[in-house]
Amino acid sequence: MRKPEKYYICNNCGYESDKWFAKCPVCNELESAVEYTADIAFDSSNDENKQIIYIDQSIDLPEKISLKMKDINEALNGGIVKGGVYLLSGEPGIGKSTLLSQLANSFETSEGFVLYVSGEESTEQVLQRFRRLGIKDKNIGLIFESNVEKILKSINNINKDPTIVLIDSIQTLKSESIDSVPGSIMQVRESARMIVDFAKKKNVTVIMISHVNKEGAIAGPKVLEHMVDCVLQLDLEKSSGLRLLKVTKNRFGPTDELVLLEITEKGLKPIENLTSYFLSEYSNEPGNSLTIAKVGHRFLPIEIQALVSNPVYGSPRRVTSGIPMDRLLMVIAVLSKKLKLPVDSKDIFVNTSGGLKISDSSIDLAVALSLISSVFDEPPNFTSVALGEIGLDGNVRGISLLEKRVDIALKLGVEVIIIPNNKIFKNDKILFAENVKDLIKLFRKGER
Ligand code: TYD
Ligand code: MG
Repeated sequence: MRKPEKYYICNNCGYESDKWFAKCPVCNELESAVEYTADIAFDSSNDENKQIIYIDQSIDLPEKISLKMKDINEALNGGIVKGGVYLLSGEPGIGKSTLLSQLANSFETSEGFVLYVSGEESTEQVLQRFRRLGIKDKNIGLIFESNVEKILKSINNINKDPTIVLIDSIQTLKSESIDSVPGSIMQVRESARMIVDFAKKKNVTVIMISHVNKEGAIAGPKVLEHMVDCVLQLDLEKSSGLRLLKVTKNRFGPTDELVLLEITEKGLKPIENLTSYFLSEYSNEPGNSLTIAKVGHRFLPIEIQALVSNPVYGSPRRVTSGIPMDRLLMVIAVLSKKLKLPVDSKDIFVNTSGGLKISDSSIDLAVALSLISSVFDEPPNFTSVALGEIGLDGNVRGISLLEKRVDIALKLGVEVIIIPNNKIFKNDKILFAENVKDLIKLFRKGER
């Protein structure tokens, strides 16, 4: 275990060094080095005889507590794990405290109780929120305190252990052992370390709120993300004002899961029909196309919008929101080379509906269709869903779970579904594209 006597942390960005520094080499902040001693930063356990566990040995899987909020339960792979530490992050005012209060009332457990620790709101504010949300559960207890040592001591003094501890927020907590203000990296880090330690030793689940700063980073940088088991990010969905809850890290299950929530007087409410939500405003305009992409554990219809325009400045710009830049550059290069599409000197913008991040390469064909459509300034002759990965040779490749995606596309009621050549599909709505050149046919009147 790395154990220097003492070392230094940049109080601005969390950079660590064994040597003192006048200016942080990462964020360039001046005089930001703060001394940190090893026995605070590292668990100095004296247990030298570690027990070896053999891989054929049966071990108990961690116990899970399911949530009454079904969509969130599903996104978390069937519930929250006992002893797991969760971070709920988001910008101020996005709805974190509201969601945390709703979660307090959502655990399907009969033992223990839920302890809500408030370090930033008054008793009045918290009670009023629970009242507004219609939550009257006797099994929810509140503590108003920001000193971590006092919080942990109070928990120890209660005669029954809480099953779940909720903390609002980690940035307001402070530890007596650190001589800097709440919210500073040193405090956030040490408070979180003590909480994580407590959760693991007592097998208590902890969900803590963390504010993100203007740049969208979790305040107390990546440090917090590394310390917890699971990160839930609450974001604003700009076009609709809805909230997106994303699972961006999960040691107990898959990531990229998401839940779309609507704001109501009674708190956040999941939107049940995601499909109709994402497509309600789709129209067959130049530059628009549809695809079915894998987002978390489900497939969602996604609208791709492209705009190809004359450059404003000398060199052409490529801007994407939702799809990886390298995939976009590859599709542009293939269309330029194989179709002689005049895109090289143009500004190109590509978005996905709701800014959803798609890393699935099956979106290539829809991106290509959108780009061609924008260059022609004409929509395809048919509303269509395009499914396929594009190779460097311009050929369209097969993708995973094509049948399932075609099924979803058929239910959307589009006129044409473009897929890589595949013998198993027989449906008069299906059109095969073996190469990107086949997409051009969709723009010739009468052809398909
Ligand atoms: P709040 O949960 O306090 O946000 P955060 O903790 O992230 O800063 O919510 C901000 C305000 O919005 C608060 O006045 C309550 C209100 N609100 C609702 O009325 N309904 C809702 O569903 C949500 C999420 C918030
Ligand atoms: Mg809050």
